[in-house]
Amino acid sequence: MSIAPQPQSRPDRSRADRGPAPIVIPTTDVDRTDPDYRTWLKDAVRKVQADANRTADTHLLRFPLPEEWGIDLYLKDESTHPTGSLKHRLARSLFLYGLCNGWIRPGKPVIESSSGSTAVSEAYFASLIGVPFIAVMPATTSREKTRLIEFHGGTCHLVQDPRTVYEVSARLAAESGGHYMDQFTYAERATDWRGNNNIAESIYQQLRLERYPEPAWIVATAGTGGTSATIARYVHYMQYDTRICVPDPENSCFFDGWLTGDAGTNCETASRIEGIGRPRMEPSFLPGAIDRMMKVPDAASVAAVRALEAAIGRKAGGSTGTGLWSALKIVAEMVAEGRTGSVVTLLCDPGDRYLDKYYSDDWLASQGLDITPYAGTIDTFLATGTWSC
Ligand SMILES: Cc1ncc(COP(=O)(O)O)c(C=O)c1O
Repeated sequence: MSIAPQPQSRPDRSRADRGPAPIVIPTTDVDRTDPDYRTWLKDAVRKVQADANRTADTHLLRFPLPEEWGIDLYLKDESTHPTGSLKHRLARSLFLYGLCNGWIRPGKPVIESSSGSTAVSEAYFASLIGVPFIAVMPATTSREKTRLIEFHGGTCHLVQDPRTVYEVSARLAAESGGHYMDQFTYAERATDWRGNNNIAESIYQQLRLERYPEPAWIVATAGTGGTSATIARYVHYMQYDTRICVPDPENSCFFDGWLTGDAGTNCETASRIEGIGRPRMEPSFLPGAIDRMMKVPDAASVAAVRALEAAIGRKAGGSTGTGLWSALKIVAEMVAEGRTGSVVTLLCDPGDRYLDKYYSDDWLASQGLDITPYAGTIDTFLATGTWSC
C-alpha cells in the first residue's frame, strides 16, 4: 500500500498558534431567563430555518467531455444560493450554532473576518434576524463584495494587512460587546457533517441516477477548510471509496502544511484567488481527512475559469477555476490510465463579482499573469485527451 505524505504528530504549540481562546460571552448583558430573550431566540432560529426551508437544492452541472473517454465531470453550482456562494450554507450553520450556543444576542453586533463571500452571506442572515453586522476584510477584497455586504445592511472594516483580520475582529467584538463569529475556527464544527442535506449528501443524492454514482474524486478548494472537511468526513462516515483532492493557489500555506504536517506553517503574501488560500493553517482545515493536495498556479486558475465559460456559458470566481484546473488534471490522469468514472468539483461563486479581476486583461497584466500556456493546456487536453503541463 502506498501512503501519501501525511501530517506528522503536531508539535506543542502556544495559544497564539492555536487560534483564539475559547469564546467567553458575558452572561450579565442579557438575562437568559427573561421570557423576552427566549422569544427573541426562538424567533431568530425559526427565521434562519425558514430560510433553509424556502431554499431549493443547488444544481449539479455537467462539464462536457468527449463521450469516448467514459468519464463524467460535474460542477456543484453553489452560486445559486440566495447570497450567491457556497458560503450561504456556512453562514446559516454559523448563525444557528451561535444562536443555540447563546453567543448571538439581541442588539449585539456579529463580527466576522472574511475574504468577502462569507461576509456577504452573514450580512444577509444578520439582517434576517435583526442584529448589526461588521465584516473585517483585506482592502483588496473585490468592490462588488463590499457593495453586497452593504446592500444587506452590513458594515465593512477594511485592513491593509490581511493577516490582521483575526485580531481586529476579536478587538471589535470585545469593544462592542458583540460576537466574533470566527468562521476559520468554527466552520468545521458548525456544519452537520453526517448529513442533514449538507453539500456532500446533496452531491451523492444527485448522482444516484448517473452512470457512475460514486465519484472517483471530489475536488474542493479551501478557505476555512470547512467544505473539504465536511465532504471528507461524510465520505469516510458513509464508507465510500471516493477520494478527496484539495487544490491550493499560490500564496497559501495549506499545501506546505499538509505536506510537512507542521501546523505552524504560514505565508507572508495574500492569496490572489479570493475566498481560498490562507496565510496560516486554519483550525477548520483538517489535513488528515484529505487524500491529495495540488498546488495550482493563479494563471492556471484564471485560464480554467475562462475555459468554463467557453464550455458551459457561465462565468465563475477564481476559486472555481482552481478546482476545475485540478479536476481536469485528475480526468487527464484517468484518461491516461484508461480508467472510467466520475469527478465532481464546485462552482463556488459567480464571475460577475470579479469582472475587474479574473475577467480583466488589464488586471492580469498588472499582476504579471500570463494565462496563455495554461489555456493552451486545457484546449489541447479537451481536443486530444493529452495533458501537457
Ligand atoms: C469563493 C470561495 N470559494 C471557495 C471557498 C472555500 O470554502 P471553505 O471556506 O469551506 O474552505 C471560499 C471560502 O471562503 C470562497 O469564498
